[in-house]
Amino acid sequence: MKAPGGMLLASVELNRTGSVPLYRQLYLQIRQQILAGHLHGGMRLPSTRTLCSELGLSRITILNAFDQLTAEGFLESRTGAGTYVCAEWEGRAAAADEPRKAPRLSSLSQSLLSMRSDHFSGINYTAWNPDCPTSFLPSHAAYDAFPLALWKRLLSRHLRQPTKAMLSYGELMGQQALREAIAGYVYDARGIDCSAQQVVIVSGAQQAFNLLSMLLLDPQDSVWMEDPGHIAARITFQAQGCRVVPLRIDEEGMDVQQGLRECPKARLAFTTPARQHPLGTTMSYARRLELIEWAGRESGWIIEDDCDSEYRYQGRAQPALYAMDQRARVLHVGTFSKVLFPSLRLGYVILPEALVEPFCAMRAVMDRSPATLLQAVTADFMREGYFLGHIRRMRTLYQARQDCLLEKLQQRLGGFIEVKPVAAGMHVIGWLAPELDDAAVASGLSSQQIYTYALSDYCIQRYLPPGLLIGFAGTPEDQAEAKVAALAQALRAMGHRV
Ligand SMILES: Cc1ncc(COP(=O)(O)O)c(C=O)c1O
Repeated sequence: MKAPGGMLLASVELNRTGSVPLYRQLYLQIRQQILAGHLHGGMRLPSTRTLCSELGLSRITILNAFDQLTAEGFLESRTGAGTYVCAEWEGRAAAADEPRKAPRLSSLSQSLLSMRSDHFSGINYTAWNPDCPTSFLPSHAAYDAFPLALWKRLLSRHLRQPTKAMLSYGELMGQQALREAIAGYVYDARGIDCSAQQVVIVSGAQQAFNLLSMLLLDPQDSVWMEDPGHIAARITFQAQGCRVVPLRIDEEGMDVQQGLRECPKARLAFTTPARQHPLGTTMSYARRLELIEWAGRESGWIIEDDCDSEYRYQGRAQPALYAMDQRARVLHVGTFSKVLFPSLRLGYVILPEALVEPFCAMRAVMDRSPATLLQAVTADFMREGYFLGHIRRMRTLYQARQDCLLEKLQQRLGGFIEVKPVAAGMHVIGWLAPELDDAAVASGLSSQQIYTYALSDYCIQRYLPPGLLIGFAGTPEDQAEAKVAALAQALRAMGHRV
């Protein structure tokens, strides 16, 4: 049988030239051996004399290490009998040798993980690399055109004189100045008449979807969901244990009549009426009325994801659903991810008065509120007139980028992808021949560092031909030719005749 002292002596390795004191190295290594189960509870350690001579250490070094281990409950000294590993490490030591079992997860996380965490065939969310090229990725803004110098100036203004309010916990609803700026913006741009007391700042639209689901939905509740639709929102409802009822999209938007036929008692409807995500349709006035009427009659809720309402290139923007609703059934969600930048993690939700307090209570459980400093900079950006100017500039830029990219796509890949200009948003759909598998195409392209999303990833039921979502906002005009040439080359490498 091996002498435990021998095992200890054999495994201790000391670095005599490093910066970590020798007593600390000895302490850490004995502790590690106890935790790993190599030194069992009740084992006697070699005497300090043996350790001194075998390890070439002074007695005081060893006593320092032992004292610390004794104070932390790893060792005990028995008068006249030596130093022992405390008995309570007996059972725990054996457990350390067992193969690691998968952790036991809650039902909520199990149901989340059973859905794909890598939502897209083209790009894996969990392995997302912020350095990857975003030229064709939908939902990515023109980072090259963001007014960074201005942003830096606004930020420094607060950093030069950081107030207590900037540094301490922020208001649960979000910074008052930002809420007022948002209330002003949605009044002018979206026809929404609300007070700053109805605006709550969140860490992006996705957090609003999660909090609203927790607040309003129970497991087994039915949710009308656009099909195809916003994947991250759909997963939120599924994770909550809800039944998602897919509703088709036609030229007027979400098919409300299908919802009335198949599940009139749904508790909530999720929609992107300003610019249907991902197809790009604008919900017609008649369809809006149908939806609002259903919600009022059935006491259903409507989450209006107002994403991309800012980027409209043709026609007049319709007022928000929230602005049309007289019965306080619409929850309006906006984000700064596309108009400013997504790492800001700022969005907002405009709530009927009765929901503000419970929503904020939920929010407090999650993470209180986003960084006050960034809220303050965003508020200044809005109040001092830069926000509207930035949106106007980006609208012109994106329109030009869309025209240019479409021209190049049509010239080089017209026989392979069918693209039509969109009236709003930041991506087009590149329709593929019916026999192609869009997920396989997106995945083949991503392995060559060209990122697009497959339309089928967004679909619950398959009724649409295959397609790719191709973002245009991130492709400067002078790079469009080269990017499309690289896309064509990658498709050829995959065996497509382009
Ligand atoms: C349809 C839709 N809604 C909302 C968002 C914004 O989400 P977040 O504010 O969490 O970044 C996106 C981002 O891509 C989106 O595509």
